[in-house]
Amino acid sequence: MVFQSQLRILISRGQIAEAVDRLAREINRDYKGKQPLIIGVLKGSFVFMADLIRQLDLPLELDFVRLASYGSGRESSGKVRVIQRPRSPIGGRDVLVVEDIVDTGITISFLLGYLKRKRPASLKLCVLTDKPSRRRVAVPIDYLGFTVPDKFIVGCGLDCGEKFRNLPDIYVIED
Ligand code: IMP
Ligand code: MG
Repeated sequence: MVFQSQLRILISRGQIAEAVDRLAREINRDYKGKQPLIIGVLKGSFVFMADLIRQLDLPLELDFVRLASYGSGRESSGKVRVIQRPRSPIGGRDVLVVEDIVDTGITISFLLGYLKRKRPASLKLCVLTDKPSRRRVAVPIDYLGFTVPDKFIVGCGLDCGEKFRNLPDIYVIED
């Protein structure tokens, strides 16, 4: 059980807003004249994705995938399953995957492999936070918000046992 008193602020909502602005400018520039399919990884990406897409001035479409890698706690099981597939055809599309965090990289590299087999025209990755210290699989991140230390973080969509996704700032859990 984690209590709110154990949370220490790591990234403020103002810093998150600045990062979203910066990433949206890069994506607007890179996808000019295209109609990207933005695929959010449920559930963690939905807060970041909602902020990001409202700054995108592109005729984009949205879809979602739901994966399971972690159980309800903090440790990765190392196994990934697709619980909900994207409904949209992927072939020939400019696909941009939006994720909350890349930790070991196992989850997102599984998803990128899965999507690549459907032959998109292009496939890129936009991530709010990156925890490179724990990486086990190399992951090419095209658009990155923040690099974070090897600590468990919550807020802005990120959870601990399904709690704290609604916090507007990002916090570290103090042991
Ligand atoms: P990976 O497969 O180890 O890269 O883990 C990716 C998934 O683990 C993310 O999509 C998150 O759902 C979860 N995760 C990893 N680190 C954290 C964290 O610090 N806070 C919350 N969720 C995390
Ligand atoms: Mg996730």
